[in-house]
Amino acid sequence: MKPFRSIFFGLALLATTACNQAPVQNSDSQYDNAVVENIMTRRSIRKYKAEPVSRELINKIMECGINAPNGQNKQSWEVRVVDDPAVMDKIKDAMAAGHPNMDPEMVKGCFRGAPVMLFIARDTGYQFSPYDCGLLSENIMLSAWSYGVGSICLGIPVRFLTDNDICKPIVEGLGFSEGYEFCLCIGLGYPDETPQARPRDMGKVKFLEKI
Ligand SMILES: Cc1cc2nc3c(=O)[nH]c(=O)nc-3n(C[C@H](O)[C@H](O)[C@H](O)COP(=O)(O)O)c2cc1C
Repeated sequence: MKPFRSIFFGLALLATTACNQAPVQNSDSQYDNAVVENIMTRRSIRKYKAEPVSRELINKIMECGINAPNGQNKQSWEVRVVDDPAVMDKIKDAMAAGHPNMDPEMVKGCFRGAPVMLFIARDTGYQFSPYDCGLLSENIMLSAWSYGVGSICLGIPVRFLTDNDICKPIVEGLGFSEGYEFCLCIGLGYPDETPQARPRDMGKVKFLEKI
């Protein structure tokens, strides 16, 4: 390939993979711009359509995720993507078995029926890894929403998978590197509900006039 053709090819490839599409704003939007609209209209989704999310789109969303700001660019996260219902069933069955005194459907329901589940782990050797994972997660959820893919951040599955011995092989099976600790799940899928925003308190934000 001639040099200029390979440069053109490289740029074209970058353009298709680098999440650099300008956000599109609804013409009747109440918000100032498309980014603000995307942030303000994202909601946690707890009911999903059966329609799968393509791996191509999951990869685009993950590219946006890993472009989040992170301490010293250590990228102190690891992510395992599960989009196979049989694998999810195995995880859910183990979770139910690990909690024999609880309603199995309630335990399994903690994933909220999302067809794609991201299992996120943090580098326990890095003080700021919880924030890195949080910022990764927010980038994932907002970029997903820009493509019409709903999301939910989930803490309960972490508890259900780590508070008993029966689930140990499942957590090991996620295959995180030495020194990484499973800390968060994110569910993705096409929304089958349009929840209202839960109330927020701007009183928690104060301009400091003196100290
Ligand atoms: C760290 C974290 C853990 C969460 N865990 C759960 C969970 O286990 N189950 C659930 O239904 N929602 C969970 N959520 C979603 C929150 O309930 C939700 O973000 C919050 O109520 C605000 O609603 P919104 O996301 O629709 O704006 C979690 C959110 C975060 C950030």
